Amino acid sequence: MLTIFSILVLMFFILLAGMAIIPVFFGAPWHPLSDENINRIIKFASLRPGEKFYDLGSGDGRVLIAASKKRFVRGVGVEIDPIKVLLSKYLILTGKLTNKISIHRGNMFDFDVSDADVIYLYLTHQALDRLFPEILDRMKPSARIICYRFCVRNLEPAKINKDNNLFLYNLTKGRTVNKYS
Ligand SMILES: C[S@@+](CC[C@H](N)C(=O)[O-])C[C@H]1O[C@@H](n2cnc3c(N)ncnc32)[C@H](O)[C@@H]1O
Repeated sequence: MLTIFSILVLMFFILLAGMAIIPVFFGAPWHPLSDENINRIIKFASLRPGEKFYDLGSGDGRVLIAASKKRFVRGVGVEIDPIKVLLSKYLILTGKLTNKISIHRGNMFDFDVSDADVIYLYLTHQALDRLFPEILDRMKPSARIICYRFCVRNLEPAKINKDNNLFLYNLTKGRTVNKYS
């Protein structure tokens, strides 16, 4: 009995370590957002009903879920960590949003973003540096990018919130990103 319990505890810690460690190597660690911050992000993004809203590194999917419920957008998420993929799919299922949001298990650096109207990114500077500027050529010219906490270095934002932690980029306003190392 004790052995089974020990194995379960061990498995739990291995899963937890996987959730925390794997994403660090691939791009960005996970940091769950408060509902208040999620609402701030959605308001700042000025999402319009029917828009395709992408979250690269979608975590538990709560930003996509809230955006879909409050602004009637169609959500697309890509997440490297299979456990967070399962968690977000479960939350989407219980929220009855399976026809509005799709979550893909995969690497955001290879993800097709050509259909996105708005891309939301909560990633580190290092991960953003890997995504930009190449991602700009794979996006619609009319697409908008929203970054939380970390700005895209050397890309001029069209709007910044008063707390200096939300950044909006319009591709129509210039696609030049200087190399940053
Ligand atoms: C700071 S969290 C943001 C989660 C979610 N977007 C949010 O705002 O609540 C970053 C997420 O990116 C995921 N991630 C890191 N590298 C990735 C990669 N290369 N491809 C897909 N997801 C990745 C992590 O697992 C983590 O869930």
